[in-house]
Formats: sequence, C-alpha cells, structure tokens
Amino acid sequence: MANPKFERFIREQVDELKKLGFLSQIRILNGPNSAKSIIDGKEVLILCANNYLGLANHPEIIQAAKDAMDKYGAGMPAGRGVMTLSILLELERKLAEFKKTEAALCYPTGYVANMGGIWPILTEGDTIVSDELNHASIIDGCRLAKDTGRAVYKHLDMQDLENKLKETAKERVKGKTMIITDSVFSMDGDICKLPEMIELAEKFDAFIYLDDAHASGVLGKTGRGTVEHFNAYDKVDVVMGTLSKAIATVGGYIAGSEALYYYLHRRSRPFYFSTGFLSPAECGATLKSLEIIKREPDRVQRLWDNTRYFKKELESMGFNTGVSQTPITPVIVGDPEKAQELSRRLYQDENIFVQAFSYPVVPKGKDRIRTIVNAHHSREQLDYVLAALERIGKSLQII
Ligand SMILES: Cc1ncc(COP(=O)(O)O)c(C=O)c1O
Repeated sequence: MANPKFERFIREQVDELKKLGFLSQIRILNGPNSAKSIIDGKEVLILCANNYLGLANHPEIIQAAKDAMDKYGAGMPAGRGVMTLSILLELERKLAEFKKTEAALCYPTGYVANMGGIWPILTEGDTIVSDELNHASIIDGCRLAKDTGRAVYKHLDMQDLENKLKETAKERVKGKTMIITDSVFSMDGDICKLPEMIELAEKFDAFIYLDDAHASGVLGKTGRGTVEHFNAYDKVDVVMGTLSKAIATVGGYIAGSEALYYYLHRRSRPFYFSTGFLSPAECGATLKSLEIIKREPDRVQRLWDNTRYFKKELESMGFNTGVSQTPITPVIVGDPEKAQELSRRLYQDENIFVQAFSYPVVPKGKDRIRTIVNAHHSREQLDYVLAALERIGKSLQII
C-alpha cells in the first residue's frame, strides 16, 4: 500500500477481526444451490441456505433467465431516471401483485432497498422507533436520515415500544413517527408482533415500515409474507423485501402505494443515481419464480411440514432452539468453541454444512449453529442430520 498510515490502520483492523474469529473459513460452493451440493470438492448436505422454497435451480427459472438475456441483453441501458426496461416494469407490477400493494419499486439488493427506502421518507423533526435487533441494513438506512429523533425499543417488547412512543411523542413538536422492524429476525427466527404494533401505530399516529426479507415466500398461506400471515392488508405503509431468499434470485424492493413508488423513484438517491439494477436475466428469473410460487402453493406447505418436523425432533432430543417460530432454527450451545466444534464435526465427519455464529453477531453466551430447512429437503435427509446432531450433541455434552 502506498500510504503507511492507511496500511497500518487496515492491518490493525484485520488483526482485530482475526481475534474476534471474524475471518473464519468461508465455504466455497462449487455447484448448484440445492439440498446437496459440492463444497470444497466434496458432496455436502446444506442446511443453512436461504433457498426456502427450493427454487434456486428450478429449470423453468433458469430458462426464463436465458430467454430474458436473449431478448434484452446482459445489462441495463441507463439509470432509471433516463430509461428503463419493459421487463423490469413488468416485474415491479408482479411484485406489487404478490404483496397486494398498489406498487413496488425494485432495487439491486434488499440492503440497498433499505438504504434507499428509509431516509427519503423521513424529514427533519420526524421520529424513528426501531427494534433493538433490527438488521444492519435497517440501521444503516436510519443512520442516513438527518435531524430525526431516534428511539430503540427492547426486542419484541410491546410495552417498551409503547413507552418509547409515549416518550418521543412528548418531545416531538412536529413530524411523523415511523415504527420499523424486521418481520422475521434472521438469527433467532422469531416473528414481529405486527397486530400489537398496528394498534400502537394507530394510537400514536405512527406508520409502520416492515422488512419482510425472511418472510416473503415463507409466512402466510400463499407465502406473501407477514401481512398475509396476520391478515393486516392496508395496515402497513411500507413493506421492504428481498429477492435473494425464498424467491431465490437477486434484488430488493419497496412495496406500498403508487404515490410512494413515484416519490422514491425521484427522491431515493441509491435508486436515481445508479445504473446498477436487476439485470434482464434476474428480472426474467424472478418473474418465473413468482409464477411458480403462485402455481405451486404446496412448496410453502412442504417448507412448514419440514420446519415443524425438524424443530419438534430437535426439541425432543433436548436441544435449545430458542424462540424460533420459523424455518430459521438456531441450536443454541452457549459457548463459542462448542458451537465451532459442532459445526466443524458436522462438516468433517458427517458432510453436513451448518454455520456457527458467536459474538458479536449474536449476544455473548448465545453461541449457536443456525439451521435453515428448505422445502426440498427430504425426510431422509432431515433424519440423517438429526441423527448426526444427536450423536455429536451427546459427545460434546450439549444434550
Ligand atoms: C432482515 C434483512 N433485511 C435485509 C437484508 C438484505 O437483503 P439482501 O440480501 O437482498 O441484500 C437481509 C439479508 O440478509 C435481511 O436478513
């Protein structure tokens, strides 16, 4: 590096990351994102992919991506303030239909959707009230909002949310209030208490911004997400989503009113000043994925059948699965070395890949492996994982 000060800074940071265990080996997938695939040269059963509905390698989706490339080419013609592709507009209409909103605006990823969707809808004097365990992209999106009041309520604690709304209402002389939350929390797999939040939002004249990343394709009878799950249509003003989980492609979006669509289209800087949007292949693939989710609702059913079975078996063996209510099921071990060892033995001895997480990703003492079952895992595969977990769990004295 040319500048010694800069080089020293980067090296010190890397040393710190090594100490925290943040530079642990990252597995390299060298095959399709399916229940079994090739990681680092060997066949492995994958139990930590976000491919909830098993759509990532669906032949129709792959073909749709190819067809869209053939028709539109590989990239985008210009920034969206200048010109856009008809297939991207078609996708936005279909996403709105999927979320049952008036409109949906696409971003290149879910992270960018939060970075671009949160701060433009806030102005000076507004207040943000946020769950303490909200995703990093929500936190970053909120940080960009200028001159707004902030309050963080205890995770899922509706009494604390009410207290924070009361306190901020006293201080607030003008402006709107936004309650913002993940709908499914990615480390514990618990679900936000949307009905109570709606009541509080009505009582305190607030609006709700919901990050439906892990809920779309997962919650609700037809996989439309948290609003369908709680039958709360027209009660949530902004729903953000990602395409990179159950939809199994790449991209993000903000769904809401038509007015919100037009407003963000002109005022969201990561949207307006970028040419990097969903490519034609991603649009084609996503349109097909949405079509399959609608056509084959049994995928959501299979995901939940697998989830219930796996959770029940884990719990009956005596594993601590925390407060999970969704396919994200942590196996909480409470010790960083044990969590790493459990993940390592599953991988080395049993050819099963499940990632371990420790502080600072999860609180100290909540070290875990995080399992995610998908719709395409067979019962045989789940039984194989359960037997391996039982064996290693006993030998490590976790159960
Ligand atoms: C709750 C939540 N919000 C936003 C994102 C970001 O979405 P994407 O992966 O599309 O950038 C994630 C992804 O991990 C997430 O879990």
